[in-house]
Amino acid sequence: MIRILHCTDTHLFADPRHVSYGVEPERTLQAVLAAARRQESLQESLQESLQESHWDAAVVTGDLVHDEPEAYPRLRRHFTALGCPVYCLPGNHDDPRAMREVFSRPPVTWQRSARHGRWHLVFLDSSVPGEVGGHLGAQELQALDEALGRHPRDPAVVFLHHPAQPCGMAWLDRGQVLDDAEAFFAVLDAHANVRAVLWGHVHQEYEEVRNGVRLLGTPSTMVQFLPEAQEFALDDADPGYRWLALADDGTLETGVVRVALADSGRGGSGTAHE
Ligand SMILES: [Fe+2]
Repeated sequence: MIRILHCTDTHLFADPRHVSYGVEPERTLQAVLAAARRQESLQESLQESLQESHWDAAVVTGDLVHDEPEAYPRLRRHFTALGCPVYCLPGNHDDPRAMREVFSRPPVTWQRSARHGRWHLVFLDSSVPGEVGGHLGAQELQALDEALGRHPRDPAVVFLHHPAQPCGMAWLDRGQVLDDAEAFFAVLDAHANVRAVLWGHVHQEYEEVRNGVRLLGTPSTMVQFLPEAQEFALDDADPGYRWLALADDGTLETGVVRVALADSGRGGSGTAHE
Protein backbone atom coordinates (compact mmCIF):
# COMPACT_ATOMS: atom_id res chain seq x y z
CA MET A 1 0.00 0.00 0.00
CA ILE A 2 1.29 3.43 -1.00
CA ARG A 3 0.08 6.38 1.09
CA ILE A 4 0.06 9.82 -0.51
CA LEU A 5 -0.69 13.12 1.23
CA HIS A 6 -2.29 15.75 -1.02
CA CYS A 7 -2.09 19.41 0.08
CA THR A 8 -2.99 22.38 -2.07
CA ASP A 9 -3.39 26.16 -2.23
CA THR A 10 -1.14 26.95 0.71
CA HIS A 11 -0.94 30.64 -0.40
CA LEU A 12 2.05 31.60 1.76
CA PHE A 13 3.13 35.25 1.92
CA ALA A 14 6.59 36.77 2.28
CA ASP A 15 5.65 37.78 5.83
CA PRO A 16 4.84 34.58 7.76
CA ARG A 17 2.48 36.56 10.05
CA HIS A 18 0.48 37.94 7.12
CA VAL A 19 -3.28 37.65 7.62
CA SER A 20 -5.40 36.89 4.56
CA TYR A 21 -9.21 36.59 4.74
CA GLY A 22 -8.88 36.45 8.53
CA VAL A 23 -6.36 33.61 8.75
CA GLU A 24 -2.59 33.29 8.75
CA PRO A 25 -1.86 30.87 5.87
CA GLU A 26 1.44 29.95 7.51
CA ARG A 27 -0.30 28.85 10.72
CA THR A 28 -3.10 26.99 8.98
CA LEU A 29 -0.56 25.11 6.84
CA GLN A 30 1.41 24.17 9.95
CA ALA A 31 -1.80 22.97 11.65
CA VAL A 32 -2.73 20.87 8.61
CA LEU A 33 0.73 19.32 8.42
CA ALA A 34 0.70 18.63 12.17
CA ALA A 35 -2.64 16.86 11.77
CA ALA A 36 -1.25 14.85 8.84
CA ARG A 37 1.68 13.78 11.01
CA ARG A 38 -0.70 12.81 13.84
CA GLN A 39 -2.72 10.66 11.46
CA GLU A 40 0.55 9.09 10.45
CA SER A 41 1.48 8.28 14.06
CA LEU A 42 -2.05 7.03 14.81
CA GLN A 43 -1.76 4.62 11.91
CA GLU A 44 1.67 3.61 13.10
CA SER A 45 0.30 2.58 16.48
CA LEU A 46 -2.57 0.68 14.86
CA GLN A 47 -0.45 -1.04 12.26
CA GLU A 48 2.73 -1.67 14.15
CA SER A 49 3.42 -4.95 12.43
CA LEU A 50 3.00 -3.55 8.91
CA GLN A 51 5.68 -1.87 6.85
CA GLU A 52 3.30 0.80 5.61
CA SER A 53 2.95 3.18 8.52
CA HIS A 54 4.19 6.40 6.94
CA TRP A 55 3.44 8.86 4.16
CA ASP A 56 5.25 7.53 1.10
CA ALA A 57 5.03 10.92 -0.60
CA ALA A 58 3.25 14.28 -0.51
CA VAL A 59 2.01 16.29 -3.48
CA VAL A 60 1.34 20.05 -3.36
CA THR A 61 -0.73 21.21 -6.32
CA GLY A 62 -0.07 24.89 -6.71
CA ASP A 63 -0.74 28.33 -5.34
CA LEU A 64 2.12 27.45 -3.03
CA VAL A 65 2.62 31.17 -2.48
CA HIS A 66 0.32 34.13 -2.92
CA ASP A 67 2.47 35.93 -5.52
CA GLU A 68 5.49 36.27 -3.19
CA PRO A 69 8.33 33.85 -4.09
CA GLU A 70 10.20 34.77 -0.89
CA ALA A 71 7.94 32.23 0.82
CA TYR A 72 9.11 29.22 -1.23
CA PRO A 73 12.07 28.32 1.02
CA ARG A 74 9.76 28.32 4.08
CA LEU A 75 7.28 26.08 2.28
CA ARG A 76 10.19 23.79 1.45
CA ARG A 77 11.14 23.61 5.15
CA HIS A 78 7.58 22.90 6.32
CA PHE A 79 7.18 20.00 3.90
CA THR A 80 10.72 18.65 4.41
CA ALA A 81 9.68 17.96 8.02
CA LEU A 82 7.31 15.24 6.74
CA GLY A 83 10.35 13.07 6.01
CA CYS A 84 9.12 11.81 2.63
CA PRO A 85 9.53 12.90 -1.01
CA VAL A 86 7.39 15.95 -1.77
CA TYR A 87 6.33 16.87 -5.32
CA CYS A 88 5.24 20.41 -6.17
CA LEU A 89 3.64 21.91 -9.26
CA PRO A 90 2.64 25.51 -10.01
CA GLY A 91 -0.73 27.25 -9.77
CA ASN A 92 -1.81 30.62 -11.13
CA HIS A 93 -0.28 32.49 -8.16
CA ASP A 94 3.13 30.82 -8.52
CA ASP A 95 6.39 31.90 -10.11
CA PRO A 96 7.62 28.88 -12.09
CA ARG A 97 11.14 30.29 -12.46
CA ALA A 98 11.57 30.73 -8.71
CA MET A 99 10.02 27.30 -8.12
CA ARG A 100 12.57 25.66 -10.43
CA GLU A 101 15.36 27.06 -8.24
CA VAL A 102 13.92 26.27 -4.81
CA PHE A 103 12.49 22.85 -5.68
CA SER A 104 15.45 21.54 -7.66
CA ARG A 105 16.64 18.90 -5.21
CA PRO A 106 15.08 16.26 -2.91
CA PRO A 107 13.17 15.94 -0.75
CA VAL A 108 11.01 18.72 -2.26
CA THR A 109 11.04 18.79 -6.06
CA TRP A 110 9.14 19.90 -9.12
CA GLN A 111 9.46 17.07 -11.62
CA ARG A 112 7.44 15.42 -14.38
CA SER A 113 6.59 12.12 -12.70
CA ALA A 114 7.46 9.71 -9.92
CA ARG A 115 7.11 5.99 -9.25
CA HIS A 116 5.95 4.57 -5.93
CA GLY A 117 5.56 0.79 -6.02
CA ARG A 118 3.57 -0.03 -9.13
CA TRP A 119 1.98 3.41 -9.12
CA HIS A 120 2.94 6.16 -11.49
CA LEU A 121 2.31 9.78 -10.42
CA VAL A 122 2.29 12.41 -13.18
CA PHE A 123 2.58 16.15 -12.49
CA LEU A 124 1.33 18.76 -14.98
CA ASP A 125 1.81 22.52 -15.25
CA SER A 126 -1.53 24.19 -16.09
CA SER A 127 -0.38 27.69 -15.13
CA VAL A 128 -0.34 30.52 -17.67
CA PRO A 129 1.79 33.62 -16.91
CA GLY A 130 -0.46 36.52 -15.95
CA GLU A 131 -3.67 34.48 -16.20
CA VAL A 132 -5.97 33.08 -13.51
CA GLY A 133 -7.35 30.31 -15.72
CA GLY A 134 -5.61 27.10 -16.68
CA HIS A 135 -4.17 25.76 -19.93
CA LEU A 136 -1.97 22.74 -20.60
CA GLY A 137 -0.94 23.18 -24.22
CA ALA A 138 0.68 20.76 -26.64
CA GLN A 139 3.89 20.26 -24.69
CA GLU A 140 2.23 19.25 -21.40
CA LEU A 141 -0.32 17.09 -23.20
CA GLN A 142 2.42 15.29 -25.11
CA ALA A 143 4.40 14.77 -21.89
CA LEU A 144 1.26 13.34 -20.25
CA ASP A 145 0.66 11.01 -23.18
CA GLU A 146 4.27 9.77 -23.05
CA ALA A 147 4.27 9.35 -19.27
CA LEU A 148 1.05 7.33 -19.30
CA GLY A 149 2.25 5.23 -22.22
CA ARG A 150 5.58 4.38 -20.58
CA HIS A 151 3.99 1.98 -18.04
CA PRO A 152 0.70 0.98 -19.66
CA ARG A 153 -0.03 -1.85 -17.24
CA ASP A 154 0.65 0.16 -14.10
CA PRO A 155 -1.97 2.38 -12.46
CA ALA A 156 -1.46 6.14 -12.68
CA VAL A 157 -2.65 9.28 -10.89
CA VAL A 158 -2.45 12.69 -12.59
CA PHE A 159 -2.01 15.92 -10.61
CA LEU A 160 -2.50 19.52 -11.79
CA HIS A 161 -3.62 22.84 -10.32
CA HIS A 162 -6.71 23.77 -12.31
CA PRO A 163 -10.02 21.88 -12.40
CA ALA A 164 -10.59 20.02 -15.66
CA GLN A 165 -14.35 20.53 -15.52
CA PRO A 166 -16.79 23.00 -13.97
CA CYS A 167 -17.17 22.50 -10.22
CA GLY A 168 -20.45 24.31 -9.58
CA MET A 169 -19.15 27.77 -8.60
CA ALA A 170 -20.40 30.00 -11.43
CA TRP A 171 -17.79 32.74 -10.83
CA LEU A 172 -14.92 30.25 -11.00
CA ASP A 173 -16.38 28.05 -13.73
CA ARG A 174 -16.41 31.19 -15.95
CA GLY A 175 -12.89 31.27 -17.37
CA GLN A 176 -10.87 29.46 -14.69
CA VAL A 177 -11.45 25.84 -15.69
CA LEU A 178 -8.75 24.25 -17.85
CA ASP A 179 -9.49 25.73 -21.28
CA ASP A 180 -8.14 22.70 -23.16
CA ALA A 181 -9.89 20.14 -20.97
CA GLU A 182 -11.26 18.36 -24.04
CA ALA A 183 -7.74 17.63 -25.28
CA PHE A 184 -6.70 16.63 -21.75
CA PHE A 185 -9.54 14.11 -21.48
CA ALA A 186 -8.76 12.80 -24.96
CA VAL A 187 -5.27 11.87 -23.73
CA LEU A 188 -6.71 10.21 -20.61
CA ASP A 189 -9.23 8.31 -22.74
CA ALA A 190 -6.39 6.92 -24.86
CA HIS A 191 -4.91 5.20 -21.81
CA ALA A 192 -6.58 2.60 -19.63
CA ASN A 193 -4.31 2.98 -16.61
CA VAL A 194 -5.43 6.34 -15.15
CA ARG A 195 -7.27 5.85 -11.85
CA ALA A 196 -7.64 9.46 -10.69
CA VAL A 197 -7.00 13.11 -11.48
CA LEU A 198 -6.37 15.44 -8.54
CA TRP A 199 -6.49 19.21 -8.57
CA GLY A 200 -6.51 22.29 -6.34
CA HIS A 201 -7.67 25.84 -7.20
CA VAL A 202 -11.29 25.17 -6.14
CA HIS A 203 -10.54 25.48 -2.38
CA GLN A 204 -13.11 22.82 -1.55
CA GLU A 205 -13.68 19.08 -1.64
CA TYR A 206 -14.92 17.78 -4.97
CA GLU A 207 -15.51 14.33 -6.43
CA GLU A 208 -16.88 13.10 -9.73
CA VAL A 209 -16.24 10.06 -11.88
CA ARG A 210 -15.68 10.33 -15.62
CA ASN A 211 -15.14 7.21 -17.73
CA GLY A 212 -14.09 5.29 -14.64
CA VAL A 213 -11.54 7.95 -13.62
CA ARG A 214 -12.08 9.70 -10.30
CA LEU A 215 -11.85 13.50 -10.51
CA LEU A 216 -10.90 14.84 -7.08
CA GLY A 217 -10.64 18.37 -5.70
CA THR A 218 -9.02 18.96 -2.32
CA PRO A 219 -9.63 21.71 0.26
CA SER A 220 -7.05 24.47 0.60
CA THR A 221 -4.78 24.50 3.63
CA MET A 222 -6.01 28.10 4.22
CA VAL A 223 -9.51 29.43 3.35
CA GLN A 224 -12.33 27.59 1.54
CA PHE A 225 -14.62 28.77 -1.27
CA LEU A 226 -18.40 28.47 -0.83
CA PRO A 227 -19.71 25.55 -2.93
CA GLU A 228 -22.33 26.42 -5.58
CA ALA A 229 -21.78 30.18 -5.13
CA GLN A 230 -22.73 32.44 -8.07
CA GLU A 231 -20.23 35.12 -7.06
CA PHE A 232 -16.99 34.81 -5.12
CA ALA A 233 -17.76 33.89 -1.50
CA LEU A 234 -15.89 32.19 1.30
CA ASP A 235 -17.09 29.14 3.18
CA ASP A 236 -16.44 28.75 6.90
CA ALA A 237 -15.36 25.12 6.44
CA ASP A 238 -12.06 24.16 8.02
CA PRO A 239 -8.86 23.73 6.01
CA GLY A 240 -7.71 20.23 5.28
CA TYR A 241 -5.84 17.67 3.25
CA ARG A 242 -6.60 14.57 1.21
CA TRP A 243 -5.07 11.15 1.67
CA LEU A 244 -4.71 8.51 -1.01
CA ALA A 245 -4.14 4.82 -0.32
CA LEU A 246 -2.88 3.12 -3.48
CA ALA A 247 -3.01 -0.68 -3.41
CA ASP A 248 -0.77 -3.01 -5.40
CA ASP A 249 -3.82 -4.38 -7.22
CA GLY A 250 -4.48 -0.93 -8.73
CA THR A 251 -7.35 0.08 -6.48
CA LEU A 252 -7.44 3.51 -4.87
CA GLU A 253 -9.03 4.72 -1.66
CA THR A 254 -9.19 8.37 -0.70
CA GLY A 255 -10.64 10.75 1.86
CA VAL A 256 -10.45 14.33 3.09
CA VAL A 257 -9.43 15.25 6.64
CA ARG A 258 -10.51 18.67 7.92
CA VAL A 259 -8.46 20.38 10.58
CA ALA A 260 -10.40 22.42 13.15
CA LEU A 261 -8.51 25.53 14.18
CA ALA A 262 -8.71 26.89 17.70
CA ASP A 263 -8.48 30.52 16.60
CA SER A 264 -8.80 30.92 12.84
CA GLY A 265 -5.18 30.01 12.34
CA ARG A 266 -3.89 32.47 14.90
CA GLY A 267 -2.11 30.08 17.21
CA GLY A 268 -4.56 27.26 16.53
CA SER A 269 -3.11 23.82 17.12
CA GLY A 270 -5.64 21.97 14.98
CA THR A 271 -7.66 18.83 15.52
CA ALA A 272 -8.17 16.40 12.70
CA HIS A 273 -11.60 15.06 11.86
CA GLU A 274 -12.95 13.47 8.71
FE1 LIG B 1 -5.74 29.06 -4.65
